[in-house]
Amino acid sequence: MKVMVIGGGGREHAIVRKLRENKEITELYALPGNGGMVNEAVCVNIGATDLAGIAAFAKERGIDYAVVTPDDPLVLGAVDLLEAQGIPCFGPNKAAAILEGSKAFAKDFMKRHCIPTAAYETFTDAEAALAYVASCPLPTVVKADGLALGKGVVIAETREEARQAVQAAMCEGKFGHSGETVVIESFLTGPEVSVLAFTDGRTVVPMVSSMDHKRALDGDRGPNTGGMGTVAPNPYYTDTIAARCMEEIFLPTVRGMAAEGRPFRGCLYFGLMLTADGPKVIEYNCRFGDPETQVVLALLESDLFTIMRAVTDGRLDETEVRFSADAAACVILASKGYPLSYEKGFAITMDEDVRPHVLFAGVKEKDGTLVTSGGRVLGVVGRAANLRDALALAYDRAERIGFENRFYRRDIGKRALEA
Ligand code: AMP
Ligand code: GLY
Repeated sequence: MKVMVIGGGGREHAIVRKLRENKEITELYALPGNGGMVNEAVCVNIGATDLAGIAAFAKERGIDYAVVTPDDPLVLGAVDLLEAQGIPCFGPNKAAAILEGSKAFAKDFMKRHCIPTAAYETFTDAEAALAYVASCPLPTVVKADGLALGKGVVIAETREEARQAVQAAMCEGKFGHSGETVVIESFLTGPEVSVLAFTDGRTVVPMVSSMDHKRALDGDRGPNTGGMGTVAPNPYYTDTIAARCMEEIFLPTVRGMAAEGRPFRGCLYFGLMLTADGPKVIEYNCRFGDPETQVVLALLESDLFTIMRAVTDGRLDETEVRFSADAAACVILASKGYPLSYEKGFAITMDEDVRPHVLFAGVKEKDGTLVTSGGRVLGVVGRAANLRDALALAYDRAERIGFENRFYRRDIGKRALEA
């Protein structure tokens, strides 16, 4: 079978590596992929949002199955386009991807289905939003409605910060159309848990839980990033909490989407906060998380491609999805200055035995060597019987990877170990 994966980050590299375990796949393509995965997939220089280019390539190459991973092509309707060409896909169609594409939709959806989440108001009028933040309780959370590269959320401690966040999104067009509507919600506290789940629109199978580290610097300081490291499982996510999330959040979400004529097929990401009042949804993503995928797939023992096809065909209830009882950790090696400004183009070196544990992201090939080309350069993974050993492996490997301006957090998993 000829399979293509849309996207080019560490998450996609993890998916590509896992798909290669399935011997039915004879040709594997990544669009665009990256310079670090060229030995594992044929990388084709077509961008993940170039839907016409993707569709044309799929037709010309006779692709049998597509895995659409990033949020933007999903929200733009890449799956609808490919399915119309007769190509089965892993990933939600446009009608279902709205769960991530519009925070206002997601919040109203949760209200309709009594799914626990932070209290909120939605605004399409800047004056009304400004009037609201002039007297709402603080801290407050201001969110651009649409996709904003993970930068659309501001936790405002003061009225001035809240006012600026509203102004930037609604008056200054900081996020384009994505900020024309904003959701302002109450500030919640508690440990955060990421739960990715396979769902075929009917059955939902949660994967092993994980914990992201979103801030750039040690001690959860510095600006928010796409994620600086992950561990799995997440020790805060006990069996009791998992059972409660299934009843109160996962099943109502999947059933609610189906009942509204938007059955969700693919990977549904539940960003949860375990508050004193119980687990609440902070956000839905319509895709695998990055770098959650790097640790979750490291622990998946069943065949990923078999699961993906079962999701597409609505047979998830009869498919085995088994995870190891081990722990995994992923440390992101970034370019100094990420997520703000950073230099690129530095050669990457590593010991050969480290390479199988590396998932590349912001890298490209230049004159036969691998050089940095992005903020998050790569993730390095460790897996062991317990989290302490998994972290030790990941950090030992990180030390043996070199590039100029390399930086990484030294405290990934620290909170999980203390839990
Ligand atoms: P999001 O893009 O919605 O995941 O938000 C990014 C981050 O902001 C989350 O991972 C949380 O750490 C934080 N956050 C979002 N919403 C809230 C909230 N209502 N209360 C507290 N923190 C929040
Ligand atoms: N790591 C968070 C995300 O993928 O959205």
